[in-house]
Amino acid sequence: MKQFLYDYPITNIAIQIGNRDIELKVVDDPDRFLDTLSREDKGGRLYLPYWAYFWESSIGLARHVSELGETLSGQHILEIGCGFGLVGIVACQVGGNVVFTDFEHDALLFAKHNAQHNNVHAADYVQMDWNMSCFQSKFDVILASDVIYEAQNWQPIIDFLKNHLILDGTVLLAEPNRKNASGFFRELRENGFTFEKSTCSISLDNRNAQINLYTIRRD
Ligand SMILES: C[S@@+](CC[C@H](N)C(=O)[O-])C[C@H]1O[C@@H](n2cnc3c(N)ncnc32)[C@H](O)[C@@H]1O
Repeated sequence: MKQFLYDYPITNIAIQIGNRDIELKVVDDPDRFLDTLSREDKGGRLYLPYWAYFWESSIGLARHVSELGETLSGQHILEIGCGFGLVGIVACQVGGNVVFTDFEHDALLFAKHNAQHNNVHAADYVQMDWNMSCFQSKFDVILASDVIYEAQNWQPIIDFLKNHLILDGTVLLAEPNRKNASGFFRELRENGFTFEKSTCSISLDNRNAQINLYTIRRD
């Protein structure tokens, strides 16, 4: 029988991240909701419901977070664009105090449900647009999985990192080797950040994707 969560038909997925077994509820066949969930702002900018898809980058970044393990324990961690919440869940499991954020309310509902289902306790869940931060505080670590796909988001994300990363903090970012990504890293350097890159391969739905993992710090 078809299962629903918050009126969305869902699929249960089981993922192994290191030695952790994580179960997530994700939207089933999100393409069906493209029309109903897409919206346009007053300026004619189209917002597609990317939160409703499960992205390979989140698996790559979750593995990286799992490998970092105890080094993240007790750290104040914020995830931007958390989607279904996989990366933040693993960050909680390794002992981080994690604030999940996304500008889509329903993404946060799923992230919260998934976190609770995996018995992790988050510091908070906050609906936030990275163009208009609602935070006064700074974080030791900022997590970002597959959020630099549109050039118009680059400078707002970089400004967010400048404002909300402590001086010696770390950004852990994953992206699926998109052609335009180099532009983001050029802007990042121009804004006083430096980074190291590694690469991993993630299989999802019989597809193999190259995921680039970046550790970003201030220069
Ligand atoms: C490609 S999805 C990636 C989701 C998740 N991080 C993952 O890797 O599976 C991009 C995410 O960023 C969120 N997002 C897009 N624009 C945003 C904005 N301006 N402020 C905050 N979140 C945003 C979307 O709602 C979505 O959850």
